[in-house]
Amino acid sequence: MTKTKSYNLKGPKIVIEPPGPKSKAAMKRKEKYITDGIKIGLPAELDVAEGPFMRDVDGNVYLDFTVGIGVHNCGHRAPEMVSACKDQLDEFIHICFMVSMYESYIQLAEEMSKICPGKLKKSIFLNSGSEAVENAVKIARSYTKKPWLLSYRTAFHGRTMLDISLTAKEKPYREGFGPLLSHIQHLDFAYCYRCPLKLEYPSCDLACTDTIRTIVQTPPLEGSVACLVAEPIQGEGGFINPPPGYWEKVTKICKDNGIVFIDDEVQTGFGRTGKMFGIQHWKADPDMLVSGKGLSLGMPLGGVTGRDEIMSAPGPASLGGTFGGNPVCCAGALASIKLTKKALPNTKMINRVEKKRLDEWKKRFEVVGDVRGLGAMMGMELVKKKSSKEPAPELARNIQLACFKNGLYILTAGQFNNVVRLHPPLIIKQGLLEKGLDILEEAVAQETKKAGLE
Ligand SMILES: Cc1ncc(COP(=O)(O)O)c(C=O)c1O
Repeated sequence: MTKTKSYNLKGPKIVIEPPGPKSKAAMKRKEKYITDGIKIGLPAELDVAEGPFMRDVDGNVYLDFTVGIGVHNCGHRAPEMVSACKDQLDEFIHICFMVSMYESYIQLAEEMSKICPGKLKKSIFLNSGSEAVENAVKIARSYTKKPWLLSYRTAFHGRTMLDISLTAKEKPYREGFGPLLSHIQHLDFAYCYRCPLKLEYPSCDLACTDTIRTIVQTPPLEGSVACLVAEPIQGEGGFINPPPGYWEKVTKICKDNGIVFIDDEVQTGFGRTGKMFGIQHWKADPDMLVSGKGLSLGMPLGGVTGRDEIMSAPGPASLGGTFGGNPVCCAGALASIKLTKKALPNTKMINRVEKKRLDEWKKRFEVVGDVRGLGAMMGMELVKKKSSKEPAPELARNIQLACFKNGLYILTAGQFNNVVRLHPPLIIKQGLLEKGLDILEEAVAQETKKAGLE
């Protein structure tokens, strides 16, 4: 294995209140030279990342519960991963798979056919999750020859024009970018904490799925739907995991109506939920699976893997791209799959520890309205009062900033930006996980008090 540099980072360790002077100077340059369309979540400039830690240019070391938005499931710069990429760089960097074949692309496709659920056999590789969603929809339309697309109102599927059309949240994703694509029907998700039908599981008997059946069997959609694009557990939507039985029912509706079920595993895939893919928590087989993020642990890569007959539908040369399935990214992905398989058992500990702490906080804090998630994809929805469920987005933001000042990176999400979500690396040790949760608990207590929401 090619040697990788080690910085021996230890943390969390705050040596100067962040953002320090060097980070502040970087922010000034960012504001001058980089589009306002990119918003920086936490205002530090980082210079080194290793395992579960990141260091900023002022010398602070943070524990990272964001992992590049659900990417570095096996920690930053896992040596096996860096080594695989370096070895590939020494052979060739880019050829373009449309010009000639290379081994890592073929091997990765073979590997995907082994690890994906159901009968998913053929793949294409692209540069990102967004591009992969685009391609999956193109392929589904080509296969079914039908125009309509279905997605969920609280979903997120990326930033291209198609992806923001599938994603219904207006701000910040769609506002000002219209007109968007036509022939898209948004559905209500099984967001049980705020059930659109005002019912409760299990007495609801999953009535929300009956609504979906009615929609797809009523004109103008009747007989005209190409695909349903869905995250098995919504990520940006606020870590929403549907109840048992949900995907079994929805995939049956798809099957009965000739609709291709596209499982968007960009955020849930590669071990994040405690299984290789999120959909594997249900007995439901997708027709196509979209991957990204953890697929290649930081090398830009997206993938679509689908049933043979679906993936064979598009005409010759109708798919592709210059950089899609770049050799260095594919080599990284092959290492990533091995590392992920090794890291998977640790998600049991992560889930047990996080669930215990979050459940305690739900009892202790009036503002913790809901605790949910699966595996190492756990979060809590913050509200002003349990009884009103009024969202508390400012509180979520203040908690995020308080954690940052104390050496912990976390993310927020959700329709109302009021969900604190945890993406610890899957390789984290229990002591360090508890340390991060201690910082978060203190931030919740402090900011709740400041806001007068005790
Ligand atoms: C479920 C899901 N789909 C698609 C995407 C888009 O992926 P990318 O940012 O790599 O384009 C994301 C990104 O967060 C995602 O969470």
